[in-house]
Amino acid sequence: MECSKVYESVKDHYGHLQDDRNNQVCVTLSSDVSKTVKDALADIPEDITAKFDGCGLVVPEKVEGRKILDLGSGCGRDSFILSKLIGPNGHVTGIDMTKEMIALSSKYIDYHREKFGYKEANIDFVQGYIEKLREAGLKENNYDIIISNGVINLTPDKKAVLKEAYTVLKDGGELYFSDVYADRELGCSVRNDKELWNECLSGTLYWKDLLCIAKEVGFSRPFLVSATPFAVNKEDFKRKLGDARFASVTYRLFKLPSDANVAPTQVIYKGTIPDHEKRFKFDVKNVFKKGEALKVTGPVAASLKCSRFSDDFVFQPVTEDVCGPNEMKLENPFDYLDIQP
Ligand SMILES: C[S@@+](CC[C@H](N)C(=O)[O-])C[C@H]1O[C@@H](n2cnc3c(N)ncnc32)[C@H](O)[C@@H]1O
Repeated sequence: MECSKVYESVKDHYGHLQDDRNNQVCVTLSSDVSKTVKDALADIPEDITAKFDGCGLVVPEKVEGRKILDLGSGCGRDSFILSKLIGPNGHVTGIDMTKEMIALSSKYIDYHREKFGYKEANIDFVQGYIEKLREAGLKENNYDIIISNGVINLTPDKKAVLKEAYTVLKDGGELYFSDVYADRELGCSVRNDKELWNECLSGTLYWKDLLCIAKEVGFSRPFLVSATPFAVNKEDFKRKLGDARFASVTYRLFKLPSDANVAPTQVIYKGTIPDHEKRFKFDVKNVFKKGEALKVTGPVAASLKCSRFSDDFVFQPVTEDVCGPNEMKLENPFDYLDIQP
């Protein structure tokens, strides 16, 4: 599909989704959700949660007091969860191109301010394109964390989105996002199908392509946090998609300074991340237990050391690299679909 037609069609689809919610796909949520997050979710009114249309749960660890940006915030469910978790000194901005979505989420700003006991709202919603964050008035080097849930697969220009995200993130900032990925390159007939595009299927990246885009933009390698099957239920969708398989995948990527040390390192987790005192799952390969020394590859060490997690670890040199080479390598999310956290 031509780019301008994609935007028109997606806007139209999500603008009307409020009246006619017709989700064709099964959203599977990880069971590894803390009580704090469950409580925050329970505070969100039905009017919002009923219109949630993401494909995962994008609540990264250690968010208190942080500045967060939600790309394609939609009904605002994830933004409001984070508005509670960051506390009165943090701030969330949600951006979405569909005016109906911005109107819906903005209507609930004051409701949540009162519910969370804040004097002033710590959240706002901006109408704009995620490929043009600065044009929408968002500042460079301004955000600690960017989240996104089921959105980047809808844009025809994924590299532009990652580039803008990189620009508005602070050094050491993190892009933590859930999206739908395919286990193969999709054919032209699927790519050009408007209905499949709007349902987050035609625009999915072949999972291997994320690695190249991240590298071109300057991000760390993407670290795989979780992967769950993304089931397609409608019979005519299944017919059009053939054997292609889809997964809802959460990745974390970091904006690291160019001189970040990428030597393999021994790290000891201090148990200081709220809600993750005993165990902190950085990604599927690196799960840290409090007090245990673990050797990690250079990219993991650099991401921990240069991000908000730096105070949560002791970093020690290693003489021998037991974790293998430092090359950019992306785990295949389809190998992890049946593994519970
Ligand atoms: C599948 S919904 C997900 C919404 C929300 N993240 C959630 O979890 O409920 C996709 C949202 O992304 C927005 N969107 C899609 N492409 C966009 C773009 N290029 N720029 C800004 N918003 C976009 C749509 O308007 C829609 O609200």
